[in-house]
Amino acid sequence: MSIKTPARLGAVAVVASLTIAACGSGDGDAGSGGGASKTLRLALNQTEQHPSYIALKNFGTRLKASTGGRLDIQVYPNETLGAQQEALQLVSDGSVDLAIVSGTQLENLNKDFSVFNLPLVFDSVETQMKVVNDPKTVGELYASLEGSNKITVVGGFTQGTRNVYSKKGPVNTPADLAGQKIRVQESELHTSMIEAMGASATPMAFGEVYTALQSGVLDGAENNEVSYVTQKHFEVAKFYSRTKHLVGLDYLIVNSELLKGFSAEDKAAFDKEWAATYAEHTDLWGKETDKSVAAAEAAGAKVNDVDEAAFRAVLEPLADKFLTSDVQRKLYETAQAASS
Ligand code: GCU
Repeated sequence: MSIKTPARLGAVAVVASLTIAACGSGDGDAGSGGGASKTLRLALNQTEQHPSYIALKNFGTRLKASTGGRLDIQVYPNETLGAQQEALQLVSDGSVDLAIVSGTQLENLNKDFSVFNLPLVFDSVETQMKVVNDPKTVGELYASLEGSNKITVVGGFTQGTRNVYSKKGPVNTPADLAGQKIRVQESELHTSMIEAMGASATPMAFGEVYTALQSGVLDGAENNEVSYVTQKHFEVAKFYSRTKHLVGLDYLIVNSELLKGFSAEDKAAFDKEWAATYAEHTDLWGKETDKSVAAAEAAGAKVNDVDEAAFRAVLEPLADKFLTSDVQRKLYETAQAASS
């Protein structure tokens, strides 16, 4: 995962030139109320068609209006600034201001984040959004990386329901995944999850999955319908099976030092516009999921329902194995209690 592909080398070059450009632009005075302006650089691994890109771009437009031009956001899509592991590091060291990263990346820094990465922890996108954007529940968790990594978690974007897809054929039960190499995110929990589901897990960065499916390094992967279509994975793995093993979660993260430098007025505008952003994203999510299913099917993908009870039976024991502290058990219980 630290292999320097040409795309990654390109990302390093982009960050280097951004850093040089930022040095002469008066960046750093932003939010002081003195009228200086700052464009926040946001790293994203999705395409421009993805709801996250659309909602974040609108976030920038609204933030600029509400701060009288003092803060703006430039979204860099398609892993231009690096895959999520690199983006996380760049936000931590301050070369990039903001990023969207999957919960699996934060689990690698603080195991308490793994609670919300558990299969079956949320029964719906609505429950998930209620829990992960409630400061009473997540306040301490979201501040937990400030000392160690200079990262503050701002809030969550849903990844919707994740399902398995394969080149080999439709999946109905865990037995159908036997011997299949299925890509997972870089997470110990998700490695155990896909193994419990019967497959062999291959952790890999998002942007490498298409080629790995095409070349046969992978037999399949697991993701939501929107990523299945925007990443064009349906072209190379046409059986999409609704295992519904997980409602996935992304986070907006920001460099903590940068955030501390915002004036009270700009911080209030940032928080207000972020609340409007995740609401817009959640709304877009449902619509784009339906459109993605239709687009995949029109292109020849085969979508099928599975024996959900058989998958639940192998997934349920993971909570006991991965919840190892009272803090984690409390977060888990809060998520379960919020279920409709
Ligand atoms: C989703 C999610 C991304 C994540 C990706 C993955 O698309 O929104 O943040 O990186 O899944 O499977 O890696």
